[in-house]
Amino acid sequence: MSVYKVGIIGFGGMASHHLNTASLLDFIEFKGVYDINPQRMEVAKEKGLYTYSSTEEMLNDPEINIVLVAVPNHLHKDLCIKALRAGKHVLCEKPVTLSSKELLEIMKVSHETGLIFTIDQNRRVNKDFVLLKQSIESGILGDVYVIESRVEGSRGMPEGWRCIKEQGGGMMLDWGVHLIDQILYMCDSKVVNVFCKMYSIHYDEIDDNFRLTITFENGLTAQVEVATNNFIKHPRWFVTGSEGTLIINDWDCSGQIVRCKVREDKWGAEIQKVKAGPSKTMAPRSPETIETIELKAPTDVIDNVQPTYIQMVNAIEGKAELTIKPEEALRVMKVMEAAFESAKTGQAIFTDI
Ligand SMILES: NC(=O)c1ccc[n+]([C@@H]2O[C@H](COP(=O)([O-])OP(=O)(O)OC[C@H]3O[C@@H](n4cnc5c(N)ncnc54)[C@H](O)[C@@H]3O)[C@@H](O)[C@H]2O)c1
Repeated sequence: MSVYKVGIIGFGGMASHHLNTASLLDFIEFKGVYDINPQRMEVAKEKGLYTYSSTEEMLNDPEINIVLVAVPNHLHKDLCIKALRAGKHVLCEKPVTLSSKELLEIMKVSHETGLIFTIDQNRRVNKDFVLLKQSIESGILGDVYVIESRVEGSRGMPEGWRCIKEQGGGMMLDWGVHLIDQILYMCDSKVVNVFCKMYSIHYDEIDDNFRLTITFENGLTAQVEVATNNFIKHPRWFVTGSEGTLIINDWDCSGQIVRCKVREDKWGAEIQKVKAGPSKTMAPRSPETIETIELKAPTDVIDNVQPTYIQMVNAIEGKAELTIKPEEALRVMKVMEAAFESAKTGQAIFTDI
């Protein structure tokens, strides 16, 4: 494998994370940076990176093979197109663009130039998600009919561009994009219906909280919540299948599967007095009819941006197809557009995504 030299446009928090993790790959070398903020250029210099005087200077550098676009969201489209037109392969941070139309423009240029264009959907390798996906795919839960995915905090929105609508702010574009990508990555059935309620609890112009329901053609329902004002948290994942229930509490992957061993529990003729009051359906099960499996974090997962670079370089070298395909990002973008439309109209949006 050759060594690929990377130029970074926008050297903020996320680009620093790329530098710290992807530079450990022996085929990736971060050469230089362009950032409009002189302080960030100083930090780049201290880290031994070349500082370009403009994006043009970087794009004219024949040594640069890959451009990482890690600027605020509204700037992604133009920079990705510029970099592709300059003959560079492009890795763009999420959300790839602000609309599916913008993404299609980039995809057109990528096709015309034959250069690789991919997106950092790095949360496909989060340990909790890998564990969840493997558990569902093992079949242990039977037919899964509801997946609940939540990311919750109570500290509100960070200051800056994430609170400005026209710069691509809001939680749908910030975290929703990851959670929807994970769900669509697991489920290739068509999205037929999207309903979303967005909340602007502390910031009027953006969604600082949302609740989204996605219905698939195969009957699966995904419920996705992102909250910045939840002082008590739900579990990270809660999944119900015909044969069992899964819970993953948090990022550390603590959780359980409770699986049905014997379908028929004993139903007495008499109604029972249980905590729920007089009921048969809500009476506790006999312990011997279920099995509890404690979950553990997978140990063979690289949970950072390295897999994003590995799949990109494999595609550049023609060894494998991209695993993070622009077409997949397009599907995510369309679901987010339907979610915005639903939040605006108060209606469920029927789709064919
Ligand atoms: N994949 C992930 O998990 C993840 C996590 C965080 C952020 N992100 C994404 O990364 C991108 C950057 O987010 P961040 O948290 O690093 O933001 P940030 O504000 O920390 O950094 C953005 C940087 O871009 C610079 N910048 C702004 N306009 C520029 C321009 N025209 N040319 C060059 N530089 C410019 C800013 O000065 C700043 O240093 C966003 O798209 C965000 O959604 C992804």
